[in-house]
Amino acid sequence: MGDWAVSEKLQTGFAFPETGREWDEVLSDLEAFKSDDFDWRRGRLPTYTYFWNEELLAKQKSSYTAYLGENGLGEGSAFKSIARMSSDIYSAARSIFHAPDDATASFTSGGSESLFLAVKTCRDWTRSKRKEPKGQYNIVAGESAHPALLKAAKIMDVEVRRVPVDAEYRVSAEALRAEIDDRTMMLFASAPCYPYGVFDRIEDISALALSLDLWFHVDGCWGGFISPFAKLLGYPIPEWDLAVPGVTSLSADLHKFGYAAKGASLLLYRDPSMMEHQAYYFDDWPRGIYYTPTLSGSKAAGSVSSAWAMLQHLGLKGYIEATDATMAATMQLIAGIDQIDGLETLPQYRESNLFSFVSTDDAVDIMAVADILQENGWMRGRMKTPLAVHQGVTASHLPYVAEYLEVVSDAVDEARRTGRKGKFGVRSY
Ligand SMILES: Cc1ncc(COP(=O)(O)O)c(C=O)c1O
Repeated sequence: MGDWAVSEKLQTGFAFPETGREWDEVLSDLEAFKSDDFDWRRGRLPTYTYFWNEELLAKQKSSYTAYLGENGLGEGSAFKSIARMSSDIYSAARSIFHAPDDATASFTSGGSESLFLAVKTCRDWTRSKRKEPKGQYNIVAGESAHPALLKAAKIMDVEVRRVPVDAEYRVSAEALRAEIDDRTMMLFASAPCYPYGVFDRIEDISALALSLDLWFHVDGCWGGFISPFAKLLGYPIPEWDLAVPGVTSLSADLHKFGYAAKGASLLLYRDPSMMEHQAYYFDDWPRGIYYTPTLSGSKAAGSVSSAWAMLQHLGLKGYIEATDATMAATMQLIAGIDQIDGLETLPQYRESNLFSFVSTDDAVDIMAVADILQENGWMRGRMKTPLAVHQGVTASHLPYVAEYLEVVSDAVDEARRTGRKGKFGVRSY
């Protein structure tokens, strides 16, 4: 385990203040602190932020603060408004993800919570179906599955059997089949997976899941709000959503390319009766009925209002425009990197806005390239298998493509000239 717990160890010496400070000063500190951060507004981050432009950022802020005071815990009881917005969001999601009209959706705090709930619901559904109240099961997934799945499974003591990806970096039905046994409760695939940016073989896995009557979760946390629009733009996006008959559940993050404020993801179930294994109802305590459909108790209502506002404001046309810029930036970056002597991108088949590049020259250490870029203000994602520089592209990268390609080319020259060796063990996610 590396030394990752940065904030826990940082000693700023701040003591609980006797009196408060002037508001202007406090606010200006908040802005000033950002000078220590990477400059995400100018394309310097490979992940974490999903920025398009200043105008939209201002709208994201105002739509979030419009519901800053409300609490999602009271959705439908105190706050009919939140239930109304959620319902609109769920209808929109059913339509773009080709879900049946009665499919259920839940609004969660992010991809990790969506995956957590998919695992929990599947486990409890399997226990109920098999009449095994404490049944222990496994999930079969690819090694490219997001760590949030492994975290969820670890918390719930569910085994995850991981299989290698194929030559195109995709998880295949054959590979999954080899690990299935009578304790398997779920097959898991990504659309696309975060490391390689390619889609797993979802139609084949769907057929396998149907033939064995297994739950099949498709993780569209990254791609959910970009793939449908990329497909309309003519990119070769494979079938991946609830139109594929064996897909049981699907996760898609609104706080990525849905442009909602952070704290917004969706989890859909084809069969609405699955919700009874997800929601929590309790009345055996002095305060009466307590009900939460998801993991959170008190819940940011601003995430819901910002998601609702973005769907209303951008509409299909706006999402297509954002996706067009995002995919154009991705394709230009890939083409440009492939022109640099000593570098090569991994194939991602124009399926997503994720890409990575490796060194093809023994004299160029790819982690040294990452280090040099980072020292120059460009934080880079570091892939382990293979060793590569990784990036998730946003629309805000488009104006910086030429500048970035130049700094990459310079970094490669420097790495080659100095023979410098880089380090992999830098946290970049
Ligand atoms: C494929 C995939 N699944 C799950 C997640 C986890 O999402 P979050 O960081 O919102 O919890 C991500 C995040 O990038 C992802 O790309």
